[in-house]
Amino acid sequence: MKTTITSSPEEAAAYIRRGELAVFPTETVYGLGADALNPEAVQAIFQAKGRPSDNPLIVHLADRSGLGAVAATISPAAEDLLEAFTPGPLTLVLPRASALSDRVTAGLDTVGVRIPSLPIARAFLRACETPVAAPSANRSGRPSPTTWRAAYEDLVGRVPCILQGGRTDAGIESTVVDVTTETPAVLRPGAVSMEALRDVVPTIREVDEAPEIPRSPGTKHRHYAPEAELVIVEDPGEADAAAIHGYIGIDEPAVPAAFANVFVAPSIEAYGRELFHFLRECDALGCRRIFAQEVPEEGLGRALMDRLRRAA
Ligand code: TXA
Ligand code: MG
Repeated sequence: MKTTITSSPEEAAAYIRRGELAVFPTETVYGLGADALNPEAVQAIFQAKGRPSDNPLIVHLADRSGLGAVAATISPAAEDLLEAFTPGPLTLVLPRASALSDRVTAGLDTVGVRIPSLPIARAFLRACETPVAAPSANRSGRPSPTTWRAAYEDLVGRVPCILQGGRTDAGIESTVVDVTTETPAVLRPGAVSMEALRDVVPTIREVDEAPEIPRSPGTKHRHYAPEAELVIVEDPGEADAAAIHGYIGIDEPAVPAAFANVFVAPSIEAYGRELFHFLRECDALGCRRIFAQEVPEEGLGRALMDRLRRAA
C-alpha cells in the first residue's frame, strides 16, 4: 500500500470519508483514525496496528455538537469536565449510543470520547463529517508517536495517508475519566492532571487497577516499550554511563558525553514532551539500556511515572 503524506486536513479527511484510514496529529500524540460509524474501516485499525481487539478505541469529535451521535447521556459531572477541559487532552467514558460500531467499544456499553484542541486536528475532524475512532498511531506495544515521522516509521505501507503536523505538544496521551459511575474515576492518568480535575470535580478518584476488572482494557497490555531495556533510577548516579546506554531525567549525569544519548529536561512538562521521542531515538541508535529518572507523582508527574513503569 502506498502511504501518502499530506499537510492538507481536507485531503486526509477524504480518506476517512471513503472508509479508509488516516493518521492525524493531536496535542497529545498522533492518532490512527477511521470512520467510527463504519465497522470495516474500524476493523482496519486493529489490523494496521496489530492491536488486540478487546481494547476499545477513543472517538474523536471536532466539537461538542457531535456528542449526541456517540453518547447516550451526559451526566452533570461530565458536563462540568467538558466545560472545563474541552477542547483538550481529556477523554470521557460515557454511556454509548447504539449507532456506534461494536468494534469501537470492544463490546462495552460505554464509549471514550475526546475533542482535541490542536487546530489542524479540529480542521481534519470537521472535514471528516463523522466521528473518528482513533488509537495512538504506533504499532501495538511501541511508544506512541509524537512526530509524523514516528507514525510513518511504524505504519508506512500499512496506512494510505498521514496528515503531517508538527511535534505534539503534550507528548503524553489524554487523561481517561470514567463518568458513568456515581463518583467519576481516572482510568488512565494523562495530560490533564489529577489536581486540575479535582478543582472541577473534587470527588474524582484514582482507580487502582483492580486485577479482576481492568476498567480501561488498554492498561492491561504491555505498552510504550522501546527495544532497549528501560530502567527507572532515582538519581543519575545510578545510571551506568556507557556508549550503548541512554539517559533521560531532570538532573544532569556527571559525564553526559559517556552516554549514546542524553536528555536533561528543564521541567516535568518538557520531560513528558520528550519521553516517547527519546525512547525511539535510543532504539535508532541501538542503545541496550535507557535509564529514566523518576519524578514526584504529582501534576503531570503521575502520568509520566505511569508511562515509565509500563515501558520498564
Ligand atoms: O491522547 C490520546 O488519548 C490519544 C490520541 C490519539 O487521542 N489516543 C490514545 O488512544 O491514546 P489509545 O487507543 O492508544 O488509548 C486509549 C485508552 C486505552 O487504554 C483504552 O483501553 C481506553 O483508552 N478506553 C477507550 N475506550 C474506553 C472505554 N469505553 N472504557 C474504558 N476505557 C476505554
Ligand atoms: Mg496507545
